[in-house]
This record gives sequence, C-alpha cells and structure tokens, in this order.
Amino acid sequence: MNLWQAFKTHQGKPINKWMHYFPIYERHLSGWRNKNLTFIEIGVSEGGSLQMWQRFFGPMATIVGIDIDPKCKAHQERDIHVRIGDQSDTKFLASIIAEFGTPDVILDDGSHVMADIWKSFEFLYPKLSKNGLYIVEDLHTAYWEQFGGGVNNPGSFINISKTFIDKLNADYVPGVITQDFMTRFTFAISFYDSMVVYERGVIPIKSGIIVPSE
Ligand SMILES: C[S@@+](CC[C@H](N)C(=O)[O-])C[C@H]1O[C@@H](n2cnc3c(N)ncnc32)[C@H](O)[C@@H]1O
Repeated sequence: MNLWQAFKTHQGKPINKWMHYFPIYERHLSGWRNKNLTFIEIGVSEGGSLQMWQRFFGPMATIVGIDIDPKCKAHQERDIHVRIGDQSDTKFLASIIAEFGTPDVILDDGSHVMADIWKSFEFLYPKLSKNGLYIVEDLHTAYWEQFGGGVNNPGSFINISKTFIDKLNADYVPGVITQDFMTRFTFAISFYDSMVVYERGVIPIKSGIIVPSE
C-alpha cells in the first residue's frame, strides 16, 4: 500500500494534508518504510497524520509528534509519542532529541511562521542522521506577510533555502562562498509547490575524475 492509499483508506482521526503532497512524500519517504527510523512531525493537531505515518512506516518506526497545544497529548497512543512544547524553544527540542535519539525524518507542519520554522530547522537539521530528511510543508506561508514571509523577504524560508543552493556549490568558488555545514552535509535540496525537502549526506571536498580514453 502506498501513502496515498493509506490516506484514502484511513479510518482514524482527521488528517490535514494537501493532496498534492502525497507524490512528494512517496518520492522521498517510501525508502524508509519498515526500517528502524525515528520520525518527528511538528504539528499534531487532531492526531490523524501521526496515525497515518505509523501505518505507512510500519512497526519498527518510532513516531513522535510535537505540538504547542496541550490538548494534543490526547493523541498519544501505544506506538505514537506526543510531547508538548514550542517548536521555537531549543531547550524543548533538545529534550526531544535526548529522549528519542537521533531523528531520521523531520516534517515541519507546525505554526508555519517563518521565525519558528527557521528556529526549528537551525537547531534540528544538524541533529539528523547522516542520510536523514528534513521536510517543511505549507510553505505558501513563505509568501504571506502575516506569517513573516513575503516574496522579497530574506527571512522567508523559501528565500533562505534559495541561498543554500549556493552553499551546495561553494567548493567551486573558495573564498567567495564560504563552505559550511550545508556544503559538507547536504546531498540535495528539492523545491516543490509549498514544500522544501532537505536530504542530508556526507559530501567530500570535490575532486574531478577523468576516465582515461582507450
Ligand atoms: C496544520 S496543524 C498540524 C496538522 C497535522 N500535522 C496533520 O497533518 O493532520 C498545525 C499544528 O501546529 C501546532 N503549532 C502551532 N504553533 C506551534 C509551535 N510554535 N510549536 C509547536 N506546534 C505549534 C498547532 O497547535 C497545530 O496543532
């Protein structure tokens, strides 16, 4: 069963996802099924998405939801952990890592406010496992002022993510673009309608290989 089928046949609590996210989830997440992974979703709301993820990833997954609303604690189940706190509170985020260990996949579906998205990303992205994934969804808010966004706002998560494209290519212009964590530990950044997906990797300093011709 793919994730779309899991969503369509879901009979549990309400899920709050856009339909066009499913092929994107499938592309990036299907390889993680039935693995020993730690998945964190920021934003629990009515609890249905955590149930869907649990069903999708399978019995070996540790599913963790975090939410600022104490009512969300009610969505804790046997194999679904819910912790209450603010996604912009790094002490709270550190307590999640301390409790559940290195996360493999983080999905930010929380406040959708640029400052909060950045605070969580800045703290959690370096904490991912070496091939981990960080997904931020509902990024149409990056274009909306009431969420701290705006087409030309440098603080929008879309605009911040665009600057990281240069970090992936920093080895080719030493002294011009500074090589940093993003350069050495990001395999890819994918942009979609309302979503950005960061794939962690371990990237050696570039050296070209020339295959000798016969
Ligand atoms: C869009 S809903 C989550 C929907 C859920 N992931 C789903 O797919 O069904 C957003 C949730 O983020 C929570 N939230 C808002 N601000 C937050 C913050 N600063 N830290 C953590 N959670 C927050 C809200 O309480 C709300 O439950």
